[in-house]
Amino acid sequence: MYLKVSGLTKMYGDKKVVDNVSFEAEKGSMTCILGPSGSGKTTILRCLGGFETPELGSVVLNGIEILNLGPEERPISTVFQSYGLFPHMSVIENVIYGLKFKNIAKKEAFKEGQEILDMVGLKGYENRRINQLSGGEQQRVALARSLVVKPNLLLLDEPFSNLDAKLKLVMREEVQRIQSLFDITTIFVTHDQEDAFAVADQIVLINKGKIEQISPPMEIYHNPKGKFPLQFIGRSNIKVIDGKIKFVRPEAIKIHDRLKEDTVKGIIEKRIFKGAIVEYHILTKDDKLIATELSRDNIYNEDDIVYLEYKYRDLI
Ligand SMILES: Nc1ncnc2c1ncn2[C@@H]1O[C@H](COP(=O)(O)OP(=O)(O)OP(=O)(O)O)[C@@H](O)[C@H]1O
Ligand SMILES: [Mg+2]
Repeated sequence: MYLKVSGLTKMYGDKKVVDNVSFEAEKGSMTCILGPSGSGKTTILRCLGGFETPELGSVVLNGIEILNLGPEERPISTVFQSYGLFPHMSVIENVIYGLKFKNIAKKEAFKEGQEILDMVGLKGYENRRINQLSGGEQQRVALARSLVVKPNLLLLDEPFSNLDAKLKLVMREEVQRIQSLFDITTIFVTHDQEDAFAVADQIVLINKGKIEQISPPMEIYHNPKGKFPLQFIGRSNIKVIDGKIKFVRPEAIKIHDRLKEDTVKGIIEKRIFKGAIVEYHILTKDDKLIATELSRDNIYNEDDIVYLEYKYRDLI
């Protein structure tokens, strides 16, 4: 395995912020660390990057234990949650900073820097100062700076948090493209499930410093293992039947406008239009359900009577 993180444990005072975290990543793969705010995501990345010293654990990258190397000795690039750009330098100077340590001629470095800036949509920004950039532009400079050195391991901490929805999609594809082009093993921290679903080969779900589940996106969505993954990933209608937790995803509930075999009658209590989908809050004799449907011309109205086809699944 290209990256092997074992038993990583980090304390702040007497609080275990990262608690015995182990996971592996194949060369060229994209791992998303997903979890709520304060769950320890950034701390895990900082331990990998060498900016924090864990109390316990081992991190083997390409066969070499890296925990006793300094940050600059690790073949790793990090895009920090707060970008960490040099405010007194221009955009291009920021981008090619890492090439200084790689014996690359200045002219060549500038050329590579410009290429990367082009890729992240910042052509023509070379000579701007960092404080003349928007948050999203700074985020893209930070990305460009980490990509230009073609690291063995790329660590991204919420790299799209300041981008609008459209730009985020563009950047997401761009990062994926560059990552697979250069075969860069990437660890991507996010609290945005959609990002994780879209780009991850595997999702490492953490809560309160502990790993809850490691699975590919579809697996974690359809087969959440335990209560936390069920509650955190996607949305579910959850019910305890005979002491067992059962669930049904909103999109798995089929809504009919007339009585059909094996349907349950309900009334639409509330309708929330979300553009591509519509969310209905529906009351039946036994359940209060959330169901979603793709938008169409004649969506249901509040107080409409509907007939629902659905089945609760067991939580494994
Ligand atoms: N230097 C520090 N000293 C003490 N506690 C810290 C320090 N850095 C982080 N923590 C605590 O460690 C826990 C994990 O923090 P971390 O930044 O890793 O969370 P996160 O999952 O990245 O959250 P977010 O999604 O909000 O960025 C939090 O409870 C935080 O308050
Ligand atoms: Mg964080």
